Amino acid sequence: MGMIVPGACVVVPTYNEAANISSLLQMILSEDDANPAWRLVVLVVDDESPDGTGEIVRRIARVEPRVRLLSGTKRGLGDAYMRGFAYVVDHLDVDAVVQMDADFSHSPGDIKRLLDGLEQDVEVVIGSRYVSGGEIDTAWGWRRRWLSRGGNLFARYVVGLQRVKDATAGFKAIRSSALSNALPFRFNVQGYVFQVALLHYLNVSGARISEVPIAFHDRTSGKTKLSISDIAGFFFHVCSLGVLRYSTFIKFILTGTLGVLVNLATFEILLSINLNAYLASAIAVEASIVSNFLINNFWTFRHRTMPGSRRRRAIRFNLVSISTLLISLGTFAVLGILFPENPLVIHQAIAIVPAVLGNYFASSYWTFRSEI
Ligand code: GDD
Ligand code: MN
Repeated sequence: MGMIVPGACVVVPTYNEAANISSLLQMILSEDDANPAWRLVVLVVDDESPDGTGEIVRRIARVEPRVRLLSGTKRGLGDAYMRGFAYVVDHLDVDAVVQMDADFSHSPGDIKRLLDGLEQDVEVVIGSRYVSGGEIDTAWGWRRRWLSRGGNLFARYVVGLQRVKDATAGFKAIRSSALSNALPFRFNVQGYVFQVALLHYLNVSGARISEVPIAFHDRTSGKTKLSISDIAGFFFHVCSLGVLRYSTFIKFILTGTLGVLVNLATFEILLSINLNAYLASAIAVEASIVSNFLINNFWTFRHRTMPGSRRRRAIRFNLVSISTLLISLGTFAVLGILFPENPLVIHQAIAIVPAVLGNYFASSYWTFRSEI
């Protein structure tokens, strides 16, 4: 289970970390010295800290090529990370990115375990406080503990990250390829909820996530930048990520609704040119299948990295659509036998449900299934 990512960039966001940053950089660099196989770069993303953190880093970077500074204006933790990641993707050729805090809450000594965790089929390794062996500094009072526990539990279940024990962690190693897959989502969450959003998009873009236990230490110098508006923003954004979970399904339904219109319009046009009604009906069905396929392919499921050719997906989509048409017909027939007294339109409406659900699941897990 050896080290498979020699090139890594440690991204450290800072705001008023003058008391911590130079010793932190020193410790990270000595980790690099201790691991000759590594090619480590540290990118400090400082937001013009009034305490001169940026100036300290600039001085170090002048003599230490492994240290880089990215300066910007303060727009929150998430914004700083997004700028940092964009820089890494554009300017550094590394296999992995590590994100960590500047205040020694995360130990530089744990970087190795995080990077070593990036095995063949693992793309994200979380330095986790909530797996067995993980711990939180006793200096964190009960309020901060419960806030963290509660926020974490809430985020996991609302966003769909139940499997992950520490979804709000700020200490992670991420394979560059997985990061590149997640970044196009352009999630512009600025505050601390960024950690959850990042993990969510890594998860939906198919990255495999694992956790290694860490001991989380309370900061000894400087103070936390976590504010009440961060907490409010956290709950708001976690909820909106929860809604996003169903966005693919909502798009699929909209596409299908448009498909019904395409079906009817095609049918009318073909009748107006005196085509046989049965032929017109069949062509209209196929026209709606084709339009549904195109919209699902280029819109509903566009974020998925899909294997195979478009033609193969088109054939699968056709097969699924025709099968679900039969499911709908079958449901309609069975309902007619069971409840002969009902108006038929009710059975027709009910028969849509298994057809749509079947079509959605077959589309999501077969036709447009993600590669990974
Ligand atoms: N560039 C930049 N801009 N850096 C920032 C900003 C900002 O607006 N806000 C905070 N930081 C930096 C801090 O300087 C520190 O290095 C790191 O981000 C974490 O900030 P803290 O203020 O120390 O956060 P915390 O200890 O309350 O929160 C920790 O735990 C959370 C989960 O419980 C962090 O690890 C979070 O990332 C994590 O989500
Ligand atoms: Mn901290």
